[in-house]
Amino acid sequence: ERARAAGSSAFSFGEVEAGVDQDHHVASGYDADVLLRWGDPLFADAPEFDPLSQTAESQSRQFGYNNDFVGYIPLPDAENPAEHGLLVVNHEYTNEHLMFPGIVKIVDGKPEVAPADKKRVDIEMAAHGGTIAEIRKADGKWQLIRNSPYNRRITATTEMAMTGPAAGHPRLQTTADPTGRKVFGTVNNCAGGVTPWGTYILAEENFHGYFMGELPADHPEATNYKRLGVPDSTYEWGRFYDRFDVSKEPNEPNRFGWIVEVDPFDASATPKKRTALGRTKHEGAESIVARDGRVVFYLGDDERFDYVYKFVTARAYNPQDRAANMDLLDEGTLYVARFDADGTIAWLPLVLGNGPLGPDNGFVTQADVVVETRRAADLLGATKMDRPEDVQPNPVNGRVYVMLTNNTKRKDDQVDPANPRAGNAFGHIIEIAEADGDFAATAGRWEVLLRCGDPSVAEVGATFSTETTRNGWFGMPDNCAIDAAGRLWVSTDGNSPKATGRTDGLWAVDTEGDARATSKLFYRVPVGAELCGPTFTPDDQTLFVAIQHPGDGGEDWEGFGRPSYYEDLSTRWPDFKDDMPVRPAVVAITRQGGGKVGA
Ligand code: FEO
Ligand code: CA
Ligand code: CA
Ligand code: CA
Repeated sequence: ERARAAGSSAFSFGEVEAGVDQDHHVASGYDADVLLRWGDPLFADAPEFDPLSQTAESQSRQFGYNNDFVGYIPLPDAENPAEHGLLVVNHEYTNEHLMFPGIVKIVDGKPEVAPADKKRVDIEMAAHGGTIAEIRKADGKWQLIRNSPYNRRITATTEMAMTGPAAGHPRLQTTADPTGRKVFGTVNNCAGGVTPWGTYILAEENFHGYFMGELPADHPEATNYKRLGVPDSTYEWGRFYDRFDVSKEPNEPNRFGWIVEVDPFDASATPKKRTALGRTKHEGAESIVARDGRVVFYLGDDERFDYVYKFVTARAYNPQDRAANMDLLDEGTLYVARFDADGTIAWLPLVLGNGPLGPDNGFVTQADVVVETRRAADLLGATKMDRPEDVQPNPVNGRVYVMLTNNTKRKDDQVDPANPRAGNAFGHIIEIAEADGDFAATAGRWEVLLRCGDPSVAEVGATFSTETTRNGWFGMPDNCAIDAAGRLWVSTDGNSPKATGRTDGLWAVDTEGDARATSKLFYRVPVGAELCGPTFTPDDQTLFVAIQHPGDGGEDWEGFGRPSYYEDLSTRWPDFKDDMPVRPAVVAITRQGGGKVGA
């Protein structure tokens, strides 16, 4: 089954050698240029980055930390829409030990991060969220337009509106907001999306980490929060802001875990948390217009044994009238996937009154269903997956690709056809074909496209084609992109010297014909990083990628007071300057002399 005809791959670039070092590497004949780094000023009057005297005020005017999702939205009046547009970028989380000088001490041979003060927390909050930046390609190179009226930072304190079925519900009301309709900020924005009407989607993923404290005994939200791991106390924000302490503001966590939509063409537009799309640890929300004009959003919920969702708008998209689309996300049907052993998929409606979704189980209104999306999906018998991350519809071949990162906790008796490996260390990719090629269908078929991992180790059970070289295999698929030709590109999170003898990177994966399941390494990241946000310009001539948490686990910047504990693997990418820390950054990849990427 794995034998393929040679030379039938849709990709014809010279493969990068898999490995590990302090720099990034792209296929020969391409340039990989750093476009936006953590701290880069985004406005004409924004301060230059000074890592030794950073402030929240400066950070809120500069590119944020840990870039994840990247989207490109052409400007409608651009001379060439593929060379002039808005780059929208999520800033998922902060790595304090890499950001703040002198806060790490080695105690008993282990690094320990000093407790936060309010100043540090305020910088962290300003480094989260998203960036909207006007960019333009001139003489083959992309540049930030620093005085653009579109440029914007969205942070953990930006005012947002709650919309859809849960807006205003008592479970979303707090002391600061008795209306349950006004919330400040967005956190842990992992992947995201760009809608057909040109809005920017940020998905709130691991929001549980921002809450601390203990719920009052027998609190009615106890079951809800337990299912989501709230509170987790990863961050110390609750020591300075009551809303992040559940003992003081028990309803605040119900205002996070949503899909957020922003109009990037109006820098004063209020971002909207669209509750109709459910409340989970959302990975992303990639969309496509179905045959009848309704818009379908595919949603991963990144946790072991959680689910794949899709949302179908009630109304059709109107390509002639952008304003008519601006609240499409407030009405529609949310579904969760059941992958059956016969190769069919059933999309189960998360709708009040459907089977167990009624008052007996605590679902009194649709607001209860969306607030407790996971518990509702549990009751419907959805299939528990191996960390569903990016889910990407392919408009060219009509299929849908599901990245399943891994799940080492799956036991032998928990294996099912859609999650076929116990102790799944390297993840897999599922391909869905919706019934009659209709993305809005409530049924379809599925198959495993690829079991990831090293194909030379028999017990791993990887299924890359035999054409795949030792550089071409990967583990831990996380994000993906489909280029204009309909080809699949997969980025990873979790490859390392120890796990796979390589860094994370971007692999081009054939899905069609003889070459199906052939994979080639196109780009790899510096040590410690993962690769996020792959996205193409509409002409396929630029590929944007986000280098997230470079140097994590290998940091050694003396100014930051931390001796290296992986000295030989540390990096100061991308500046390589003694007075500059390692910085997450977005990279623009183009072909030398012009042309399509990966052609
Ligand atoms: Fe933020 Fe699921 O990666
Ligand atoms: Ca991710
Ligand atoms: Ca994607
Ligand atoms: Ca990730």
